[in-house]
Amino acid sequence: MNKILNFGSLNIDIVYSLDHIVRPGETISSEEINTFCGGKGLNQSVAIARSGLEVYHAGKIGRDGGIIRQALDEAGIKCDFLMESEGRTGNALIQKDKSGQNSIILFGGTNKEITTLEIDNILEQFTGNDILIAQNEISNVPYLLKAAQKSRMKIAFNPSPMEEWIKNTSLEGITWLIINEIEGEDLTGSSKPEEIISRLLKKYPDISVVLTLGKNGVIYADKTNWFKHGANEVEVVDTTAAGDTFLGYFVGSTAKGLDIPTSLKLASLAASLAVSKAGAVSSIPTMEMVNELLKT
Ligand code: RIB
Repeated sequence: MNKILNFGSLNIDIVYSLDHIVRPGETISSEEINTFCGGKGLNQSVAIARSGLEVYHAGKIGRDGGIIRQALDEAGIKCDFLMESEGRTGNALIQKDKSGQNSIILFGGTNKEITTLEIDNILEQFTGNDILIAQNEISNVPYLLKAAQKSRMKIAFNPSPMEEWIKNTSLEGITWLIINEIEGEDLTGSSKPEEIISRLLKKYPDISVVLTLGKNGVIYADKTNWFKHGANEVEVVDTTAAGDTFLGYFVGSTAKGLDIPTSLKLASLAASLAVSKAGAVSSIPTMEMVNELLKT
């Protein structure tokens, strides 16, 4: 089987549970504060590992990153390319309201210390048909994507957080573009799911688009296929990492050779389990839990 490399962020998430997301000029008291391991990169690697696949995580932690290393180890993720520096590990300040929705402020920290030389040295260990997973929370992502394309790796790209450079860069060469509706609108100017997909496929006919729609499910489309899958109805506790769980299970299932509808189904079930638990890494289900839900 081809190798999977996730070159991505590692964050310490500080989560404030609030009645509502704070408004400009407002001061409110938090009902609870918790620290979790997170970062889109880490969450996606954990989802792949819990789906039963081997995954290498490349990223950088700082002197306070012990809990992140522990989370990677506990999930059985291969840490051959985990780097350390004297800096401060990336972190996220998350406001979570009583309906489970959130808003996130990121501090890049050591995620933003990744150099092009480090990217070259790590990608040397991978070849064509290996899979690269990337988000936009580390430094030099444009370089990483180009280098992976040169190595003919398959690329799953989650353009989050969205930035100007992504809108002005060709996404040709990406294998799976995994986006939500807001990112879709940023990329295409349309807020209508069908139009987002048709505009992207018109511009980049060879990519596969996976558009997640929250409680309205997900659409997968490439130049010959179009699949829609609904979302499970669950009680929402915390939406943090739901998208990351979806991505990890979708890419993992596809890498196992499962067909697209099955991969969408498993990924949607996994994401629905993730929203029913608090935290990022701590909310990501195992394959056994997904299979249990599948039976019901
Ligand atoms: O997608 C959720 C993640 O976004 C959080 O874990 C936080 O660290 C931010 O990166």
